[in-house]
Amino acid sequence: MSFNLVEVNNLTFTYRDEKQPALEKVSFALPAGSWTAVVGPNGSGKSTLTRLLDGLLWPDSKHSEIKIAGERLTKQNVWSVRQQIGIVFQNPDNQFVGATVADDVAFGLENQNFPPEKMQERIEQALAAVKMQDYAGTEPSRLSGGQKQRVALAGITALRPKLLILDEATAMLDPQGRRDVIALIQQLRQDYQLTVLSVTHDADEAALADQVLVLSHGKVKATGTPADLFSQPDLIASLGLKPPFVMDLKQRLAAKGIEVPAEITEEQDLVNYLCQLSSTK
Ligand SMILES: Nc1ncnc2c1ncn2[C@@H]1O[C@H](COP(=O)(O)OP(=O)(O)OP(=O)(O)O)[C@@H](O)[C@H]1O
Ligand SMILES: [Mg+2]
Repeated sequence: MSFNLVEVNNLTFTYRDEKQPALEKVSFALPAGSWTAVVGPNGSGKSTLTRLLDGLLWPDSKHSEIKIAGERLTKQNVWSVRQQIGIVFQNPDNQFVGATVADDVAFGLENQNFPPEKMQERIEQALAAVKMQDYAGTEPSRLSGGQKQRVALAGITALRPKLLILDEATAMLDPQGRRDVIALIQQLRQDYQLTVLSVTHDADEAALADQVLVLSHGKVKATGTPADLFSQPDLIASLGLKPPFVMDLKQRLAAKGIEVPAEITEEQDLVNYLCQLSSTK
């Protein structure tokens, strides 16, 4: 059975004293358990969208609607709805409150009145899930960027949210750190049936999503699967995105007369396909 964890209808928002809306008539749905990448140029409204979903900003009119788990987000229910949402931002330094890694995870649990006698176990489990159990007593400021993002994810998954929002959470990491954190999010998503909305400028990350939402000037410019969108080179170029590695390679191979089937979208599948192709020649 599949349902939409999030439904956004006709979302319009204008910052105070601004003439142009930062978001205009944006509609989309996030099926429960899905991974959606949000891409678009700087200033296209991606972060604004995450703030609206978390009830940090409110739409311009009552015709805009955000529904989370079937419930319309209002100023009355925002605190309880927010408990179902975890957000990780780009800069990990701005999201620590605890003196140690374990304290930091504890802080979120305490805020949600988690039973104190179960706290230790939940913290250990959360840190183990992100492979940071050896750092429980470490000061967050001593961690690397990738380690900080892991701890941020531990703090959030400990709270068992239904929706995980990432606003360029991997942008400050090196390519390996980025891959590690993405793999970790994929794992956490499976383990806890998370629905993920990930704002990213990284086409290789967007290529892993179930669907991609393209914003431009505050409007939805396109939605579709990564394969749909990344097969439109003009659209990708107009967004200032580099095509993902696999799509780029497929297009270059096609230019040389080697047509790789459309269903091959992942690096390992492409490697296997090319190996098998060369061994049958
Ligand atoms: N606090 C604010 N007050 C007024 N205007 C704002 C504010 N924050 C953002 N904006 C404007 O709203 C628009 C959307 O900004 P937003 O931060 O959502 O873009 P973004 O897609 O997240 O960009 P980036 O890729 O640079 O993070 C931009 O035109 C921006 O200048
Ligand atoms: Mg942003």
